[in-house]
Amino acid sequence: MTSITRRTILLAASALGAVGLTAGIAFADLPVLAKKDTYKVGFAQTESNNPWRIAQTESMQAKAKELGFQLVYTDAAGSAAKQVADVNSMIAQGVDLIFLAPREEKPLIPAVMAAKKAGIPVILLDRNVDQSLAKAGEDYITFIGSDFIDEGKRMAEWLVKNKPDGAKIIELEGTTGSSPANDRKKGFDEALAGMAGFEIVASQTGDFARDKGRQVAEALLQAHPDANVIYAHNDEMAMGAIAALEAAGKVPGKDVLVLSIDGGKEAVQAVVDGKIAAVVECNPRFGPKAFETMARYAAGEAIEPWVKNIDAFYDPSNAKDEVANAY
Ligand code: AHR
Repeated sequence: MTSITRRTILLAASALGAVGLTAGIAFADLPVLAKKDTYKVGFAQTESNNPWRIAQTESMQAKAKELGFQLVYTDAAGSAAKQVADVNSMIAQGVDLIFLAPREEKPLIPAVMAAKKAGIPVILLDRNVDQSLAKAGEDYITFIGSDFIDEGKRMAEWLVKNKPDGAKIIELEGTTGSSPANDRKKGFDEALAGMAGFEIVASQTGDFARDKGRQVAEALLQAHPDANVIYAHNDEMAMGAIAALEAAGKVPGKDVLVLSIDGGKEAVQAVVDGKIAAVVECNPRFGPKAFETMARYAAGEAIEPWVKNIDAFYDPSNAKDEVANAY
């Protein structure tokens, strides 16, 4: 059977003056990416203040170098406004395609739309945009990344299994308005809703940052001295929470269980050392999958709206064996 590709739909659409649709994806609106030996590609990074971001950037740079592509790299330094300006600058420089890790779900929509208007395809990396305002297959090619809702859910399920008598939980949220913060909260909170004995006593943003996580954990531990679990949306805030617990004279892993997401070497080692109870991985090594997806698109393949990353899980049962492989 002949497979339907974006190119066949584009041809049919231009012949009929219509927008092509397959598997619910409209391709005719998307800019085309010519097949070439080399490309000038943009990578608009969110910030570089943690090992996860650094590992992601290194993975993108290494793969671009291996392929002999020119990579135009920008660091938005934690500012959505700067990230929009970075994307506009890439458009002005005439890059062939933009990889965008949108800091927040809504403020990056104008950047996605500007690239589309300029005829430059966009692939979203690791974070998504608001799905009511922009869609994969129409406004950008695809989202490559983890299932953040499932990450939160898996953490809640681990907690219920390993602390069946219940818990008083402090939740340290990621950057407000970002897709991992929204979804990790949703997955975790919904999995625990209605579970007898499990209560989220406080939930506040620590902006995915170690020091902010430490400060927020310190304040929330003072307000809720009976809390016995801290669920942090990433490793950096989990490490900050450990510092806050130790400063308060509490023993992480004994008085308070710390749960985290990311799976960097420091956090997986903290599981080995008993300071973190469990970590859901969120793999930052995007380079191979990002450039492979770009090649598939240039070859005219229909790209699925979500290229999903599969995440590991670390707890005392496997952390020692896995720490060497963690980023
Ligand atoms: O979008 C992924 C999240 O962003 C990672 O959990 C975090 O560490 C990063 O800053």
